Amino acid sequence: MCGIVGYVGTQPVVDILLDGLQQLEYRGYDSSGIAISDNGEIKIYKAEGKLQNLKDTLKSHNDEIQNAQMGIGHIRWATHGAPTLINAHPHTCNCGRLALVHNGIIENFKELKAELEKEGCVFRSQTDTEVVAHLIASIYGKIKNLTEAVRLATLRLEGAYALCVMHKDYKDTLVVTKRNAPLIIGLGEGEHFVASDVPAIIKHTKRAVYLVDNQIATLTPKSIDIINSHGQNIEYKVEILPWEPVALSKMGYKHFMLKEIHEQPDVIRNILVGKLHTTSDPVVLNEVKLTRDTLKNLNRIQIIACGTSLHAAMIGKYIIETFCGISVDVEPSSEYIYRRTVTDEHTLVIGVSQSGETADTLTAIKQSKAKGSHILIITNRPDSAMAREADSLIPVSAGIEVSVAATKSYVAQVMSFYLLAIYMAEIKGSLDSTILKNLKNEMMIIPQKIEQILSHKEEIQRCAKEYANTKDFIYIARGINYPTALEGALKLKEISYINATGYPAGELKHGPIAMLDETMPVLSILMHGSVYEKLLSNSEEAKARNARLIALTNSNDKKLNDLFDYIIKVPEVHEYLSPIIAIIPLQLLAYYIAEFLGKDVDQPRNLAKSVTVE
Ligand code: AGP
Repeated sequence: MCGIVGYVGTQPVVDILLDGLQQLEYRGYDSSGIAISDNGEIKIYKAEGKLQNLKDTLKSHNDEIQNAQMGIGHIRWATHGAPTLINAHPHTCNCGRLALVHNGIIENFKELKAELEKEGCVFRSQTDTEVVAHLIASIYGKIKNLTEAVRLATLRLEGAYALCVMHKDYKDTLVVTKRNAPLIIGLGEGEHFVASDVPAIIKHTKRAVYLVDNQIATLTPKSIDIINSHGQNIEYKVEILPWEPVALSKMGYKHFMLKEIHEQPDVIRNILVGKLHTTSDPVVLNEVKLTRDTLKNLNRIQIIACGTSLHAAMIGKYIIETFCGISVDVEPSSEYIYRRTVTDEHTLVIGVSQSGETADTLTAIKQSKAKGSHILIITNRPDSAMAREADSLIPVSAGIEVSVAATKSYVAQVMSFYLLAIYMAEIKGSLDSTILKNLKNEMMIIPQKIEQILSHKEEIQRCAKEYANTKDFIYIARGINYPTALEGALKLKEISYINATGYPAGELKHGPIAMLDETMPVLSILMHGSVYEKLLSNSEEAKARNARLIALTNSNDKKLNDLFDYIIKVPEVHEYLSPIIAIIPLQLLAYYIAEFLGKDVDQPRNLAKSVTVE
């Protein structure tokens, strides 16, 4: 959601903070700010809009900021209060001696605010965060110990937070803490870094401490002291961070999204290493900790996820039911958590999340875990909060995904579901051995097929130009590619703001067909398989209403030339694996339309890469 950074050491702090914020820009980008400590003075600079505006603001303050060696920074995705200068972080107390940045939501901020106003605190912003600044300062006024003031304040806070606090009385000390929001501490030589996520610090250090919920860390250039919520000292573990700095570069591509789309063949190769050896060897999935007996007798699975991960989950349902004959329910996490869900120790609950941080999914998982379900997490972040809740963890190993629109992480999640479904089917003996062999064979050559699509991307670029000016877009598909239609439409709306909707093609005639006329493009995901002919009829129904028809197909059927206005050809593939092939052109189509329209592809408006609020 928001991103926070902090630094205490001997280097000029401003460049470190700005660079860190730039790496966290995917978490929010509606305003930003820094606070630095310079000769005992706390100086604060803020700007509305993109981080570049803050950088521009700071240019005219160069002389007064260059010597500072401690500071905190924030990039905001507004939850409480509009994205204005006054609501931008850092926030301070009445006297301005304390400054802090915050990621998360303080749920009881109204009660705390009323209480603090009675004490004389004057609130300037509409944020929940300002309450925390006043609260810590109020406690500090009484006990004159910053770490202890932070600890006591957190006992009063409800909700989620990662906080980084500095005080005028402490020239070289940052105090940081977290609950249900990510925070890592990077360890350097005579310096310490703080960040919401690895990209902000990976250039400086690979050694880090993942702060655990409710712990409070006090950082100086040479020391780290961590206490728990009772004030007791805690031993901490230093871990090696998983990313290489090169992962954060666009590597010559115009946008991260385009780079990440092109990484997909290698992402798939990477996932298969060590898991799928030959067509006759069983899939190896040591990550699944359920016994063979439990897997054999499993008769219920629930999959919970949001957004793009939810679409991967829908494909997961289709293939697990088809390959294993186990009943699977898929539900958006945000719905799952607000009703009485029926789950128990006999249910396998699978959480799917690129970031491993999404608040709704995290809460849903915790709820099911409390009911005794085995929790299997499929995530791109094995270091995330969700991963830490997992009984079984399948890391999708897609490498860091910077663009807000998920692409390679989706393909990696879907591929993980294939491996899981085949793994379970082999244990249960529920899938015909010839089909199994074919599938494995095709999985191994899928990266080359994606490369073929990528090498003909001009065809999709031309299609994008032709359709870029449409206001609406409909995607239709049936069966296993219905989630592909949803995901294709989501990609387009996220980055181009075109009103795109995915429908199961059979539903078209039950309502949406009323919208069809010569202005409406309908993209039909027409892959060979059990529903090909049915979908062809649905496409004809759309043509009869004068819709502009696009086919995404692996068919050479000549009659398609008369029916469709535009044909995007993809390689032949087994129906069961077709979602992986079909999504690639749809990602590219969304990308090229957004690029053609001049949109901010990697950082679309109103969105953030990881949604840590419910
Ligand atoms: C994907 O393009 C979106 N930005 C969004 O739908 C995302 O998939 C969703 O917020 C879930 O995130 P997660 O996978 O990190 O849990």
